[in-house]
Amino acid sequence: METIQASFITGAVSPEQFPVHTLPEVAMIGRSNVGKSSLINRIVLQGNVARVSNTPGKTREINFFNTSMSFVLVDLPGYGYARVSKQHRAGFSVLIRQYLIERPNMALACVLVDSRHDPMESDLAMIEELEFAGRPYSVLLTKTDKLKPAQVKERTRQMRHLLEHCKHCVDVIATSSETGEGRSSVLGMIKRLCSQFNKPS
Ligand code: GTP
Ligand code: MG
Repeated sequence: METIQASFITGAVSPEQFPVHTLPEVAMIGRSNVGKSSLINRIVLQGNVARVSNTPGKTREINFFNTSMSFVLVDLPGYGYARVSKQHRAGFSVLIRQYLIERPNMALACVLVDSRHDPMESDLAMIEELEFAGRPYSVLLTKTDKLKPAQVKERTRQMRHLLEHCKHCVDVIATSSETGEGRSSVLGMIKRLCSQFNKPS
């Protein structure tokens, strides 16, 4: 499977700093430490562009990466990390909401949920926001290498069941940045959504 080249465009702390272009964007969103940067590196790119941290909650800006496949990858700050101040934790930051709800370039939001646990309240709230706003999203279960295959299957089934009436949920995919599980499904989905994307005017 192909390696996708990527390069950092910019980090934004307000919508005025979002890059101006007409390409579709694929955003990674999820709790701190869920594995967003690792998934960008190992599953999407097979390279090493997004910073992987051991100190969750540090990334406050939205990072944009150009790719060799005519889409832009977006690494959003993690939500719900307890050590982050209340102000930053308040649901989702204004910045996250401004991106996810209003960004015309967004072709798909990938909501990452740790496969080892039930989705947290903040994960469900995020999914609900995207659903109500009519924004296309998928749930990517992360770190499946920590589970037995039967448990991964059950988690995937549970999540699909939970979302079966959601109109804007595109897919639920089990992934591991350790083993590469889910890579071809994630890439296939990204290609499909980006090819259907209508350029913002
Ligand atoms: P923030 O940017 O702080 O919100 O975190 P993040 O969501 O980008 O998570 P990150 O990719 O930095 O990973 C957090 C930790 O989980 C790191 O120690 C990773 O090595 C580990 N990790 C990420 N993905 C996987 C995975 O698929 N399997 C296993 N076993 N560990 C993983
Ligand atoms: Mg990160």
